[in-house]
Amino acid sequence: MPPLPILIDCDTGVDDALALLLAARSPALKILGVTCVAGNVSLDAVVPNTLTVLDAAQRPEIPVAAGYASPLVHPLTDASHVHGNDGLGLPDWPRSTRQPNARHAVDLMAEILTAASEPVTIIALAPLTNLAGFVQRYPELLPRIARIISMGGSAFSGGNMTAAAEFNIGCDPEAAAVVYNSGVPITLYGLDVFRQVTLTAAEVAALEAAGKPWSPLLGGLLRYVQRRFHQTEPGLGDGGTVTAAILPDTLTTRAHRVHIELSGTHTRGMTVVDRRVASQDARHAAPPNADVAYAIDARRCAQLFVETLR
Ligand code: RIB
Ligand code: CA
Repeated sequence: MPPLPILIDCDTGVDDALALLLAARSPALKILGVTCVAGNVSLDAVVPNTLTVLDAAQRPEIPVAAGYASPLVHPLTDASHVHGNDGLGLPDWPRSTRQPNARHAVDLMAEILTAASEPVTIIALAPLTNLAGFVQRYPELLPRIARIISMGGSAFSGGNMTAAAEFNIGCDPEAAAVVYNSGVPITLYGLDVFRQVTLTAAEVAALEAAGKPWSPLLGGLLRYVQRRFHQTEPGLGDGGTVTAAILPDTLTTRAHRVHIELSGTHTRGMTVVDRRVASQDARHAAPPNADVAYAIDARRCAQLFVETLR
C-alpha cells in the first residue's frame, strides 16, 4: 500500500508528541505538513515543542507552521495543569532552535492541499481553530480533504474539560461547529476510545531502552504520563488517533449527526451525538455528519505503536 498522505494539526502537549513520533516514524504515513494551534499550552510553546519532537524523530524536513494563538470567540483556557507549563512535562529538555515555516497554518494547509496529487487526510489532535479558519478562508479546497480524523468530543463518556465537554471541543466550540457543519467527512475519535489505548509497563521500558534517536524523549514523555496520571500503564492519548489512521479497521464506528453545543450552562462544548435510529422517533433527525468511534482494538493499536518506535 502506498503511504497515506496526511496533515497533522496539533497543540503539542505530551500526547500530541507521542502521536507525532509515531506518525513521523511510520512507513504507512506521508506527513505533508504539521500545523500548530493554541490549546494544551500557548502557541509560543506549541511550536517549539512540535519542532523538538520532529527533530528527535529525525524528520526536520517536515514543514511546520504556526496558526491561531486563541480560540475564535472566547479566551484560551489551556491544559497546562495536565501537560506542564512547558507542554511536554519536560521543562529542562532542550527545545529546537529551528524556526517554523513563515506562512500561517491555514495558508500552509491550502498550499499543501492544492499541490497534493490526491485528497489528504487531516489528523486533528487539537482545538479546531485552525481547521475552522481553513474552512472559512478556503471553502473551494474542502473537496481536497479526504477525511478529518478528529480527536475530540465523546459519544457516551462525558467530558474531561467539564462534565460535558472534551478539551479539544470545549476549548473552541465555535470552531468545532464550523468544522462539523462543513460537509467534510469526519471521524469522531472521542474519549470513548481515546482512553483505551495504553502501553504495558514492560512496553514502556522496551521503548525507553530501544537506543533509537527518539528513545530518550519518548521515554521521558511516557514516564511523565505514568507519574502525572499515576498510571503504570500509560495512555497514548492522541497517539491512538494516529494508530487508528494507520489501521482504520481497529475502529468500530457508526454514522450519526453530531451537534456542537454552544450555549448550554453546563453543556457548552459538548458533542451532542444523535444516536436515534431510523424510526418513528427520528423522523426529524438531521442526516449524519460524522462516523463516531464506538470501540477500538486498543491492544492492536498499542502493539503498532511499540513495533514502530522500538
Ligand atoms: O481531551 C484530550 C485532548 O485535548 C488531547 O488531544 C490533548 O492533547 C488535548 O489537546
Ligand atoms: Ca492534543
